[in-house]
Amino acid sequence: MEYLSNDKLLIVGAGGMIGSNMVQSALMLGLTPNICLYDIYEPGVHGVFDEIQQCAFAGANVTYTVNPEEAFTGAKYIISSGGAPRKDGMTREDLLKGNCQIAAEFGDNIKKYCPEVEHVVVIFNPADVTALTALIHSGLKPNQLTSLAALDSTRLQQALALEFGVQQDKVTGAHTYGGHGEQMAVFASQVKVDGKPLSEMGLSAERWEEIKHHTVQGGSNIIKLRGRSSFQSPAYNAVKMIEAAMGGEKFTLPAGCYVNCDKCGFKNVMMAMPSTIDKTGVHFVEPAGTEEEMASLAKSYEHLCKMRDEIVELGIVPPVAEWKEMNPNL
Ligand SMILES: NC(=O)c1ccc[n+]([C@@H]2O[C@H](COP(=O)([O-])OP(=O)(O)OC[C@H]3O[C@@H](n4cnc5c(N)ncnc54)[C@H](O)[C@@H]3O)[C@@H](O)[C@H]2O)c1
Repeated sequence: MEYLSNDKLLIVGAGGMIGSNMVQSALMLGLTPNICLYDIYEPGVHGVFDEIQQCAFAGANVTYTVNPEEAFTGAKYIISSGGAPRKDGMTREDLLKGNCQIAAEFGDNIKKYCPEVEHVVVIFNPADVTALTALIHSGLKPNQLTSLAALDSTRLQQALALEFGVQQDKVTGAHTYGGHGEQMAVFASQVKVDGKPLSEMGLSAERWEEIKHHTVQGGSNIIKLRGRSSFQSPAYNAVKMIEAAMGGEKFTLPAGCYVNCDKCGFKNVMMAMPSTIDKTGVHFVEPAGTEEEMASLAKSYEHLCKMRDEIVELGIVPPVAEWKEMNPNL
């Protein structure tokens, strides 16, 4: 089997649903044979290790550990879903305190054991804020750490494809920006259906509102249908983000990026932006949209600032003015 790289890929939370699916996806897509599975729950991660070995992937060199030093040392790429998931009736924000404490420790482990890491993808929720916490603590450059935000866009794409009865990849530009919470900004103005602008597709305002609602509630809907938080779509998309960072196919769905941009008016947050991940990391541009879309993005940004200020208040990250002391790259 040919692999894209031989670098060590660390999967944090590998004993869980997303983590275990990521191990399998990474091997099936041939990212690297050298994958380390890390979790705090030994029986879980041990079980995933056994199952993966029993898949018998040719050339795979999979290890597992519950020791952070062993896990992080030498890691060149990391994906983390190691945190608590939502249950029915919970919002992503309900996870803020506990998961941001985990994110701080995760960032500290990167700084301590693998400062040479190339790229990190953070999945655990609320992903914009856990990723921001990890970035501050890790000391990494902003283009080296992204959060998984793409599912909101793939949910919008799915809804529009079903609406118009077209193949899903015929719907392009279906993107959401800002936060990966219920305050996400859903953009319609760049959408094309089989090459035709959405505005020419005869979609009523009422139906568009329903589709927007479906997009925003996409994650909760999976919890209702399956009795647990989504795991196949986050696992696949996060692995595709790392594949891009390893030099494979570029990842062009919106990624959560660190934004500190006077021109856009968004400062010191992680948020989903029009972005590309490639071997050199993540690069973003300013979103373009109607006045209404930009207003909803500004609202989403305000919400992210509020959550950021909460983790400052909780003492999980220092006040913005002191971030440079912890991470000179910010
Ligand atoms: N960004 C997204 O689009 C998106 C989508 C779905 C789920 N999620 C989030 O991903 C996270 C994981 O979801 P899941 O379904 O895999 O949950 P899960 O409970 O199945 O797995 C989480 C795993 O993380 C481990 N873990 C907990 N604390 C840890 C720590 N400090 N270090 C290492 N491992 C630790 C647990 O032992 C468990 O094995 C949740 O926070 C969920 O909300 C994000």
